[in-house]
Amino acid sequence: MSEAAGASSALVLEAEGLHKAFAISREPREVVRGVSLQVRQGEFVAIMGPSGCGKSTLLHMLGGLSQPGAGRVLIQGTDLYQLSDRDLAAFRRNQIGFVFQFFNLLPSLTAAENVMLPYRLERERVWPLRGLGRDRDARQRAAEVMNLLGLRGLQGHRPEEIAGGERQRVAVARALVTDPAVVLADEPTGTLDYHGGRAVLELLLKLCRQEQRTIVMVTHDVRTAAYAERVSIMVDGEIRETVDLGRRSVHDTAPLLERLSAHGL
Ligand SMILES: Nc1ncnc2c1ncn2[C@@H]1O[C@H](COP(=O)(O)OP(=O)(O)OP(=O)(O)O)[C@@H](O)[C@H]1O
Ligand SMILES: [Mg+2]
Repeated sequence: MSEAAGASSALVLEAEGLHKAFAISREPREVVRGVSLQVRQGEFVAIMGPSGCGKSTLLHMLGGLSQPGAGRVLIQGTDLYQLSDRDLAAFRRNQIGFVFQFFNLLPSLTAAENVMLPYRLERERVWPLRGLGRDRDARQRAAEVMNLLGLRGLQGHRPEEIAGGERQRVAVARALVTDPAVVLADEPTGTLDYHGGRAVLELLLKLCRQEQRTIVMVTHDVRTAAYAERVSIMVDGEIRETVDLGRRSVHDTAPLLERLSAHGL
């Protein structure tokens, strides 16, 4: 196993004092209320809490998709919301991998084409005139990532032709193709059955342990959260406690359940 992510690994993501309010029935309501978070390279962190507590809103702010009302987000030292829209879009494409509950794969593209899409867009931006070589490059990179994720046989299949669990692994491959600093996953197992979900979680875990990937996942599910080494319990827009589960490979939910019940969950 690779070296444990500890105080010595680099800080990849830092959030300070994040707030977000939405106008709900014309009344502004704060749905994220002063969240701070630090994540180091190679860490697998979960943010867990009940429906509506603000998890997705928080994750969108962490990923440069939604401007906070207050606070800031730094990824590898870059202050996301100080960037211009154009630079933020490029930064997001290059340095942040997203995995969503509903996969968001393009149905008309093959699995490999879906995986290479962000990579191609990025090459396009960096080398607009490079022409032919680019596609070969993208294909090769997609194949590399898909092989790493055990998806070798699925390259030519369209999303509708593959099982849900595999679709989500294709979405993980797409999230990794540009070699981002951090992967953000929002209920990545939410629509999967037990086995499909477990395969996705085992994959995320392996990416952290063996590839030193950095992953922040939000979920309302205890068994899902227990794959992470650190679980922040979110209630009502705030992180109430962070539980350190350690880097074990057997996922005992008992310590987490105990802390959740202390918060009335
Ligand atoms: N764009 C928006 N406009 C208005 N209200 C919103 C918006 N996005 C989220 N909210 C509200 O903010 C609160 C938090 O939503 P959020 O989606 O972050 O919760 P969540 O913890 O991800 O829930 P779930 O587990 O159901 O996905 C909810 O009350 C939601 O209705
Ligand atoms: Mg959500």
